[in-house]
Amino acid sequence: MRLVSVVNQKGGVGKTTTVANLSHMLALSGKKVAAIDLDPQGSLTVSLGENSRSLPGIDDVLLDEVDIHDVMHEVRDNLHLIACGPQLAVCEQKLENTSDVAKRLRKTLKNLEGYDYVLLDCPPSSGFLVVSALFATEEILIPVAGDYLALHGMSHLMGTLSQFEKSLKLKHKQWIVVTRFHPRRRLSQGVVENLVEHFPGTVLKTPIRETSALAEGPSFGLTISEYRNKSNGSADYERLAIDFCKGRTIQ
Ligand SMILES: Nc1ncnc2c1ncn2[C@@H]1O[C@H](COP(=O)(O)OP(=O)(O)OP(=O)(O)O)[C@@H](O)[C@H]1O
Ligand SMILES: [Mg+2]
Repeated sequence: MRLVSVVNQKGGVGKTTTVANLSHMLALSGKKVAAIDLDPQGSLTVSLGENSRSLPGIDDVLLDEVDIHDVMHEVRDNLHLIACGPQLAVCEQKLENTSDVAKRLRKTLKNLEGYDYVLLDCPPSSGFLVVSALFATEEILIPVAGDYLALHGMSHLMGTLSQFEKSLKLKHKQWIVVTRFHPRRRLSQGVVENLVEHFPGTVLKTPIRETSALAEGPSFGLTISEYRNKSNGSADYERLAIDFCKGRTIQ
C-alpha cells in the first residue's frame, strides 16, 4: 500500500484536481484506492460528487475516534472517498492534543487493509493538518503549476518540508507533477527544465496540460474521464497514473 500526501502550500496549483483524477484513473486501471479530503474547504469531496457539508468524514475519525471504515464512501468502482466532514476546520483551529490526533491519523492509515493507494488532498498551508498528513504517509506528491513563480515557491516548500521531516524524524519519497502546463509557452518549458535540474529524478514524465474541461468537471461532480474522456486532461492523467505506478520520471 502506498500512502501519499499531495501537498503544496501554494493555493490553486492543482492538488485537488490531481487527487480526484489520479485516484479515479488508478481505480479504473484496477487498483484499489482511498482518497482522503484533508482540506476543510471540501473541494475533493465536491469534485467527486458528494456534499462536503453533510457527509460524515475524517473529522469524526480525528475528533471522536470513529472507525475510518464507518466513514468510507464507495464513490466509484475501486474508489473510496473519505470526505472532510463538516468539523474538519475545528481540527485546524481549536485542537489541544494535536500530537495525539496526528498519531491517530498515522495509526488509522497504517492499519488500513486492501488498498493499493491512499491519497491525501492537503489544504494550501503548512498547518497542523498538513503536518499530520506528512506524519502518516511515506510519499509526497507535489503539484507545481507550470505557469507562474513555480521555482520560487518550490524552494520555500522544500525548506518547510525538510524542517518537518527533521522534527518528525521521517524521510519521504518525493514526486513532482507539473500541472496547468502550456506546451507552446517557453515559460512552461522553462519551469519543467528548472524543476528537473533542481530536483532530479522526481519530476513525473507527463505534465498535465491546461484543459478547460478539468476546471468544468467538478461543478458536475465528475472526473475528467467521465466528463471529457477524449480531452488532453484525460489523456494526461491516464498517463500520469502509469508514471506514478512505475515511478517514471524525466531524467
Ligand atoms: N490542468 C488544468 N487545466 C485547467 N484548469 C485546472 C487544471 N488544474 C487545475 N485547474 C483548475 O484550477 C483551479 C485550482 O485547482 P485545484 O483546486 O485543483 O488546486 P488546489 O491546489 O487544490 O487549490 P487549493 O490550494 O485552493 O486547495 C481549479 O479551478 C481547477 O479546476
Ligand atoms: Mg485543493
